[in-house]
Amino acid sequence: MYESLKGKVVLITGANGGIGLASAEALAREGASLMLSDLDEQRGRELVESFISRGTPAEFEACNVTDAKAVEALIAATVERFGRLDCAVNNAGIEHAHQRLADHSDDDFDRVVAVNLKGVYLCMKHELRQMLKQGGGTIVNIASLAGLGGAPQLGGYVASKHGVVGLTKTAALEYARKNIRVNAVCPSFTKTEMVKRMIRKRPELEHALESASPMKRMGEPEEMANVVVFLCSDASSFVNGQCHAVDGGMTAM
Ligand SMILES: NC(=O)c1ccc[n+]([C@@H]2O[C@H](COP(=O)([O-])OP(=O)(O)OC[C@H]3O[C@@H](n4cnc5c(N)ncnc54)[C@H](O)[C@@H]3O)[C@@H](O)[C@H]2O)c1
Repeated sequence: MYESLKGKVVLITGANGGIGLASAEALAREGASLMLSDLDEQRGRELVESFISRGTPAEFEACNVTDAKAVEALIAATVERFGRLDCAVNNAGIEHAHQRLADHSDDDFDRVVAVNLKGVYLCMKHELRQMLKQGGGTIVNIASLAGLGGAPQLGGYVASKHGVVGLTKTAALEYARKNIRVNAVCPSFTKTEMVKRMIRKRPELEHALESASPMKRMGEPEEMANVVVFLCSDASSFVNGQCHAVDGGMTAM
């Protein structure tokens, strides 16, 4: 469907499951080559084998996105293996337990900001350096509806995702003349391990999350991946610095 993605080299962080894996699958269907990255190396290697057996060139590099040296090594490994980096999907992220700000755990705040915000900053920095060297590229950050508005009891997460939205817009402005586009996808609640973990802790959340949506359901990872693919492809060639809500209409309310 998106001819422009054939043979493109795409890096995805947090690729072992959820929105990251759905994005990898969708990009593979468009003919992209994949550099997958996440924490669990064994799972990553199994995924690589599965992609290769289906004809998609793929590689896995373990990387904790909070580690500046590991992130630099990840971009270097991508270029060493595939020769370039055309698209980057900065997706690795974590949640924290529900808590109001007055009772917020400092450790939870530091942890979520380290992964969700500093991790994206570090990835963008090294991806941009490579894209500048080679003359272009596209970056898609996975932010959240929590990057566009407040969300009670998710203060640390909200702060981290607002930061990602800010970095997305800033990088888009800084590199618009360098053939580099930077956008974000802002999912509402999506059926992945992250949300399943939250529901296991508070089962009543499932109904609450579904009924809060105008479409009375959560998003599917594949529905986020479809927008990631569009933003990576040349079909979005004039889309830059945008943070797209993919939310079944939630922000229309
Ligand atoms: N699921 C939702 O409802 C939802 C909504 C809005 C935004 N998001 C965002 O989407 C992204 C993907 O989340 P998901 O729902 O697929 O969750 P998920 O938990 O299924 O996947 C997240 C992946 O990130 C990896 N990861 C976590 N910490 C990491 C680190 N320090 N370094 C490298 N990898 C790390 C995990 O191992 C996991 O594979 C996250 O940024 C999340 O904040 C999710």
